[in-house]
Amino acid sequence: MAKFSDEGRDSFTSKFGIVCAAAGSAIGLGNIWRFPYVVGDSGGGAFLLIYLGFIVLLGIPVMLSEFIIGRRGQRNALGSFKRLAPGKSWYLVGVMGIVAAFMILAFYSTIAGWTLHYVIQSFANSFAGKTSAEINQFFESFHTRALMPLLWQLIFMSMTAWIIFSGVKKGIEKYTKVLMPFLVLLLVIMAIRSVTLPGAKDGLLFLFKPDFSAVDSGVLLAALGQAFFSLSIGMGALITYGSYIRKHNNLGNISVQVSLADTMIATLAGVAIFPAVFAFGLDPAEGPGLIFTVLPNIFQQMPGGYFFSITFFVLLAIAALTSSISILEVVVAYLTEELNLTRRKATLMAIIAAAFVGVFCTLSFGTLKNVTIKELHIFGMLDFTASNLLLPLGGLLIVIFVGWYMKSSDVKDELSNKGVLKVKLFDILMFILKFIAPLAIAIVLFDSLGII
Ligand code: PHE
Repeated sequence: MAKFSDEGRDSFTSKFGIVCAAAGSAIGLGNIWRFPYVVGDSGGGAFLLIYLGFIVLLGIPVMLSEFIIGRRGQRNALGSFKRLAPGKSWYLVGVMGIVAAFMILAFYSTIAGWTLHYVIQSFANSFAGKTSAEINQFFESFHTRALMPLLWQLIFMSMTAWIIFSGVKKGIEKYTKVLMPFLVLLLVIMAIRSVTLPGAKDGLLFLFKPDFSAVDSGVLLAALGQAFFSLSIGMGALITYGSYIRKHNNLGNISVQVSLADTMIATLAGVAIFPAVFAFGLDPAEGPGLIFTVLPNIFQQMPGGYFFSITFFVLLAIAALTSSISILEVVVAYLTEELNLTRRKATLMAIIAAAFVGVFCTLSFGTLKNVTIKELHIFGMLDFTASNLLLPLGGLLIVIFVGWYMKSSDVKDELSNKGVLKVKLFDILMFILKFIAPLAIAIVLFDSLGII
């Protein structure tokens, strides 16, 4: 298999820059908004354990595989497959990734828009003195409306497009490396406040005490989807980023570091949220609105809550932005490299298409809430299809590609940077890529779909 030169290609400048960009992609609403609500929906502790198992056994290997494909192919998600497997149908994995990217961008921006609204509301001190019921009411009346949520969604999408278009990714790296540690610090402080609330113990038990009696194939699939969503894997975002990684960077280390950081932040978010959920008598299974009804309550119980609330929602919005740019980049890299569009045209086309779908996602909490298939409204359906079906299916094909299609000497070549680095655990990794990961993903995916 040929190796492609990265000459003249845009690339991340430092090891730290790559870790920041990849971690920036991974860490986002997935950790702080989606993780807690999926844990809540899936019954708590047992889910957490399964999730952690999936991250280690499936997440890290898929992430590593994406980096390998991207850096070796030196192209976008679709183009890399075309180059590494010329004349074969593997590029369809890239096509699937692009479809998933549109879907995720569409619903991701709904929630990011809510976050922006909460930034402004925090500034305006709108939650001060409100009871937990009133905070609930506030969220209800906001997110079921049409105009405001749509406006915020469009603002968020424009911000994403602007960054991708103007290529200020390097600037983003600079800011995220300062801001993300700050987000972690804030989460730690919030977690401390949350676990010291009266009645917090039930929340910790909910999160950490596994009850396997509630685990069914739906819970397994939810954990798989959440793991893939949170790590940004299965749709080529990290193939695209991998193609910007320089030849001397250590792919194995990057994958482990990024996955660790991502998982730590999700767990921390869980510790900040669940004790408070129980302390305020809220419902852990309340769905996508969970953090928007819980967090303002926590801030109200904190000295300096006004300041914390503003800072937190600002940081969350930034975390969302560094994720959404990695999603849009999948589409834009494809359009510019394969269809020869200018970056400007590509960005514009992609964001307009995503915004079109996005409108339906946002409206599905209000105007369109009765448009449902199998009890899922449009938002839920796109989220389910992209996160729980397309990402795992993409991940499955990606590990099969690296485990079975690529020559194992080529894989080793990428992992060792042509023999420069010592590759630890290579045989174990190959065994996971060939057998464990494909089987595990296939079983969870097809079992929950009733195919096996
Ligand atoms: N991982 C991101 C988050 O947790 C979302 C994402 C999914 C980004 C898929 C890229 C690809 O917010």
